[in-house]
Amino acid sequence: MASLTGFITLVAFVLPSIAQSGSNILAFVDPLIGTVNGGHVFPGATLPFGMAKAVADVNGEDQGGFASDGSNITGFSHMHDSGTGGSPSLGNFPIFPQAGCAADDINNCVFPKATRATPRVNGSVQASPGYFTVELATNIKVEMTVTNHTALYRFTFPQKPVELNATLSPLILADLSDLPNSRINGSISVDNSTGRITGNGTFSPSFGIGSYTLHFCADFNGAVIRDTGVFMNNRAGNEPKNLSVVQDGVDVSPEILPAGAWTRFQAPNNTSNEMLARVGVSFISVEKACSNAVSEIPTFDFESVHAAAVQAWTDKLGVIEVTPGSGVSSTLQTVFFSGLYRTSISPQDYTGENPLWNSTEPYYDSFYCIWDSFRSIHSLITIVDPISQVRMMRSLIDIYRHEGWLPDCRMSLCKGFTQGGSNADVLLADTYLKINTISDGINWTTAYEAVRADAEDEPQNWSVQGRGGLTSWKNLHYIPTDDYDPYGVGPFTRSISRTVEYAYDDFCIAELAQALGNMADAEKYYERSQNWRNIFRADQNSSINGTATGFAGFLQPRYLNGTWGFQDPIFCSPLLNFTSCYLNPDGHETYEGSAWLYTFFVPQDMATLIATLGGPTAFVNRLDYFHTSGLLYIGDEQGFLPVYQYHYAGRPAKSAERAHYYIPSQFNDTTVGIPGNDDSGAMGSFVALAMLGLFPSPGQDVYLITPPFFEEWSITNKLTGKVATVRNVNFDAEYSNIYIQSATLNGLAYSKNWITHAFFLDGGVLELTLGRNESTWGTRGEDLPPSLSTNGRPMGYYKW
Ligand SMILES: *[C@@H]1O[C@H](CO)[C@@H](O)[C@H](O)[C@H]1NC(C)=O
Ligand SMILES: *[C@@H]1O[C@H](CO)[C@@H](O)[C@H](O)[C@H]1NC(C)=O
Ligand SMILES: *[C@@H]1O[C@H](CO)[C@@H](O)[C@H](O)[C@H]1NC(C)=O
Ligand SMILES: *[C@@H]1O[C@H](CO)[C@@H](O)[C@H](O)[C@H]1NC(C)=O
Ligand SMILES: *[C@@H]1O[C@H](CO)[C@@H](O)[C@H](O)[C@H]1NC(C)=O
Ligand SMILES: *[C@@H]1O[C@H](CO)[C@@H](O)[C@H](O)[C@H]1NC(C)=O
Ligand SMILES: *[C@@H]1O[C@H](CO)[C@@H](O)[C@H](O)[C@H]1NC(C)=O
Ligand SMILES: *[C@@H]1O[C@H](CO)[C@@H](O)[C@H](O)[C@H]1NC(C)=O
Ligand SMILES: *[C@@H]1O[C@H](CO)[C@@H](O)[C@H](O)[C@H]1NC(C)=O
Ligand SMILES: *[C@@H]1O[C@H](CO)[C@@H](O)[C@H](O)[C@H]1NC(C)=O
Ligand SMILES: *[C@@H]1O[C@H](CO)[C@@H](O)[C@H](O)[C@H]1NC(C)=O
Ligand SMILES: *[C@@H]1O[C@H](CO)[C@@H](O)[C@H](O)[C@H]1NC(C)=O
Repeated sequence: MASLTGFITLVAFVLPSIAQSGSNILAFVDPLIGTVNGGHVFPGATLPFGMAKAVADVNGEDQGGFASDGSNITGFSHMHDSGTGGSPSLGNFPIFPQAGCAADDINNCVFPKATRATPRVNGSVQASPGYFTVELATNIKVEMTVTNHTALYRFTFPQKPVELNATLSPLILADLSDLPNSRINGSISVDNSTGRITGNGTFSPSFGIGSYTLHFCADFNGAVIRDTGVFMNNRAGNEPKNLSVVQDGVDVSPEILPAGAWTRFQAPNNTSNEMLARVGVSFISVEKACSNAVSEIPTFDFESVHAAAVQAWTDKLGVIEVTPGSGVSSTLQTVFFSGLYRTSISPQDYTGENPLWNSTEPYYDSFYCIWDSFRSIHSLITIVDPISQVRMMRSLIDIYRHEGWLPDCRMSLCKGFTQGGSNADVLLADTYLKINTISDGINWTTAYEAVRADAEDEPQNWSVQGRGGLTSWKNLHYIPTDDYDPYGVGPFTRSISRTVEYAYDDFCIAELAQALGNMADAEKYYERSQNWRNIFRADQNSSINGTATGFAGFLQPRYLNGTWGFQDPIFCSPLLNFTSCYLNPDGHETYEGSAWLYTFFVPQDMATLIATLGGPTAFVNRLDYFHTSGLLYIGDEQGFLPVYQYHYAGRPAKSAERAHYYIPSQFNDTTVGIPGNDDSGAMGSFVALAMLGLFPSPGQDVYLITPPFFEEWSITNKLTGKVATVRNVNFDAEYSNIYIQSATLNGLAYSKNWITHAFFLDGGVLELTLGRNESTWGTRGEDLPPSLSTNGRPMGYYKW
């Protein structure tokens, strides 16, 4: 750029603060956020949506492999899921380095996971996009980076490991295990001339049914091979060169029999004592695992593999440019970009690696779970990476094509457990409404067939697909507690939360039906989307420890015969038996939340909900009470939308206040910086969307407007190339001015408190003028987001 122009540009725009874009952004990504206290974030090396995910595995909080909890390191493995609750996922075939065996006796090396676990050197962990490193207490430094299907590790050994009383002679083992110790069977072999270790194993998924088989191929570089062998339990030998294990019935999970193979080397012949290990993975075969490894990393060049990973992340996140605004802390920028980063870890692209069926469609896995991800993850992916969103939706449809059902949760090629409704319906409707006009490749006829199956046909096992209770749903128009349902099996719990989710899913199906011109279906499903009303009990009070909250009218369980059951509206909130509503036979009428929480879940018709709860003032009071009484836990995804539901009562200013109440108090850049499981990036995408100031009502073409946490941002749409910019005027880094006084869209006054996805497709500038006090902007009836029951819906929505 010519120097004079450049200088003027700098003076005019960059003085207040420097725009973060391109490779700058990666400096604001901290993968270690949420790696302790239940975040379960995977902090290791991965490409965007990549299959290979390498990290150090620990024996502490190991759902994501590693945790910043000071626990010991048991190995380094190549595939993980991020942020999940429950048991850990994947972590198959960990490798583990030792500088040598004491007194040079192979039997003095340690083989079982339990005994080889080694402390980390405090302060040695570093993580950045595409890279992770930690030093073991044995003074072995381990670094890792990845390609799509291959992990590359670099070990730096100490010159002379004093504790061994032996010269450096590294041994690297590969273990036939996984993080949850779920191995059903496995085989491993080592090639004595090359040192290559290959193997396979059949394991159980972490939150689903069935099993999966995975293959790996490990090659080493940097030192001359000395000898090879296998190990079983705590003993190792040079012969044989392969072994197979099955479950013996005694040593079953979590105590499976240690077994694996190893290769021992002479001291590395480079002065830095470095060795490399390259591990390819495949769901198809050992041969494919090896060819993935050889083709993706032909030369063991750690720096170039790392550089390619950095480039992939720069390209992925670089669609956003942020001008933080003078005085905005780098902490907030880190919270934002790290949230964005975590939204691009899962689901994993296993295209070409699906052994279950042959197809030319993409195959993504680890939709873990859609119950979590429909609420913010896919909305953010649709904004920043619509190409991946379309591929993911094609993959969901292809799963329907080959397995007969859309998943609500899926991991490791297996069907995962459904937590409520059939929420893939929401994702498909959302994608159609937002990007159908410019995306191709999605067969909407098949998509509609798939969502209609969810609404009409009860599967035999509705704990892993579709919905249960459909006969009651169609005839009684609610899911009864203690239902009579001889048509399928599944947990007969969650009658309240299933009712509201089924209602919303039906709304989304109606939108799709209408868009596709099927008006009869649209009418039918819009009608069914009102079924939440049938479990609303107007005279139900709520008190906390005997003190009345002053609010009446809550969703309540209802029997088949129409009489009411009872569940204390605060039950399963943080104030009462918080952990009593999980997915088990003793679960209650709500899932991971209270009736207080679920009473707010009517995103399809907030106008009717607000009227039902006594009008806008009463509704706002109730929402305030919900946020300030301790009843709401923002660490579970159902808590997201209530932050913004003030918009529907004409009080968008209060949504902005709430967002600032939770950020940064609950979302920050520390290792404990997220309030609950990240669930594949749910917390990350929530905080990123909240800071962008455009929060979606997923399943509808609606973004609720609040002021961004930065002075300005721009997003380039990958499908259209157009740039959408949101700019705050009167922005201050103390966030005193968080109230929109007026707005313009492309220079014209804009008074609606919401906007559609056309903003991202067509580009444009939304300018928000801020002030210190709540104004009348966005408060009038005609400014409010659409509701099923109100007039003036965009796009000719069905009108009651
Ligand atoms: C970690 O290893 C150290 C040293 O071997 C041991 O003292 C400690 O108990 C181990 N901690 C865990 C959680 O395994
Ligand atoms: C990795 O996979 C993605 C698709 O998920 C693809 O776009 C990208 O090009 C692949 N990277 C390499 C280096 O092949
Ligand atoms: C170290 O090994 C040498 C020979 O292998 C042996 O003579 C010596 O006693 C050992 N020292 C210790 C401290 O074990
Ligand atoms: C394995 O390789 C080592 C080192 O090359 C050699 O000494 C040994 O004889 C080999 N063993 C077998 C069984 O081939
Ligand atoms: C695993 O490897 C063993 C040994 O090569 C082989 O016999 C077995 O068929 C493989 N299993 C699978 C599922 O590929
Ligand atoms: C170091 O060892 C490798 C084998 O791992 C060999 O290919 C290379 O030639 C050796 N380099 C030197 C300088 O000896
Ligand atoms: C996919 O096609 C390959 C090559 O034709 C075949 O070997 C394989 O069995 C097929 N897989 C399935 C699941 O149909
Ligand atoms: C879409 O899928 C339907 C079956 O659901 C099929 O009949 C139709 O040919 C497909 N359309 C395209 C363009 O592939
Ligand atoms: C309705 O069913 C419930 C549960 O079976 C029962 O307790 C209640 O007495 C019934 N009510 C009427 C009016 O039959
Ligand atoms: C309810 O009362 C018990 C016993 O006094 C107390 O421990 C608890 O904290 C109270 N809970 C709330 C939400 O006030
Ligand atoms: C609620 O929690 C209390 C105390 O932890 C426990 O005793 C009680 O059984 C729980 N009730 C239900 C219905 O889960
Ligand atoms: C960071 O967030 C966590 C999780 O929500 C919270 O417990 C902690 O208090 C926050 N820390 C700060 C310094 O705000």
